[in-house]
Amino acid sequence: MAKKIALTGIKPTGTPHIGNYFGMYKPAIELAKEYDTRYFIADYHGLNSMKDPEKIRELTYEAAAIWLAMGLNPKESILYKQSAVQGTFELAIFLSAFTSKGLMNRAHSYKARVQENLEFGKDPDDGVNMGLFTYPVLMAADILQFDSDVVPVGKDQKQHLEMTIDIAQSINHNYKKELLKIPKALIQESTGYITGLDGRKMSKSYNNTIPLFLPEKKLRKLIMKIVTNSQTLEEIKDPKTCSIFSLYKLFANKHQIAELESKYLTGGMGWGYAKQELFEVMNDTLSPIRDEYSRLIENKDYIDQVLKDGAERASIIVSEKMNFIRKEIGLE
Ligand code: TRP
Repeated sequence: MAKKIALTGIKPTGTPHIGNYFGMYKPAIELAKEYDTRYFIADYHGLNSMKDPEKIRELTYEAAAIWLAMGLNPKESILYKQSAVQGTFELAIFLSAFTSKGLMNRAHSYKARVQENLEFGKDPDDGVNMGLFTYPVLMAADILQFDSDVVPVGKDQKQHLEMTIDIAQSINHNYKKELLKIPKALIQESTGYITGLDGRKMSKSYNNTIPLFLPEKKLRKLIMKIVTNSQTLEEIKDPKTCSIFSLYKLFANKHQIAELESKYLTGGMGWGYAKQELFEVMNDTLSPIRDEYSRLIENKDYIDQVLKDGAERASIIVSEKMNFIRKEIGLE
């Protein structure tokens, strides 16, 4: 039986942090064992907010190198750049004919922007381009072009997935057949919350992230900055409410976790010690990925080749799908 298809995209935005690692990359790589996976770099989505060609080019290389450094096998999975598969954009135009403007008005990202403009006394659509407004349509095309079964995404993308399903259903309803496969969102609930340096959720907007590829010394320095309470060395400490411990659990094995936990509960352990332990397990996990990333980013020809191969394989699938759709809808 053919494997099911999983697809996800990521905008080329640079500097992933360990929240992205657990929330996105790691589960996506795991998924590749079970599913036929198609992962892409959403460069046309990135263009909505990023207009510097050199920057887009560089961030796209970085995004590809990250996937590969994480262990994605580009022969088994398809890794490609969104812009390199022309059929996606034709599909997006088709989907547009079935997407009400009202649906787009309700998109969280667009609504948040309008709200912000109003608060600052600006025109509601200030700074909103059509790429941003129709973002969910292009995203639906990314997904529907492959007959994707599942789409692993963060909670923030849930509404976009619902919109994809909405659009696909209204098309299937109109043509009275399953022209488009209805996908399912695969939301990473369990790892949805990674603690940041200040104890709040790790997020770029809180400026409390631990970047994935920090050199060793910088990583250590950053970990030493994790905010703790003012308990003394002797005092018994609560692992459950501690940011250091919650990060430690992500990287350490069961045995290590139990050992550190008992140090918390016995007392006599200072925060400096706990931080050093955290640094060590983190560095053990991250240093091979970091080394591989540095090797890949110096090897752009290889990345070009991987992306070209991925785009070719993706294009074949998508153009077949578009040929089918064009006939079904009366364009041919
Ligand atoms: N919107 C996603 C994000 O901002 C990126 C993305 C674009 C995507 N197209 C997609 C994700 C298709 C999943 C499926 O992170």
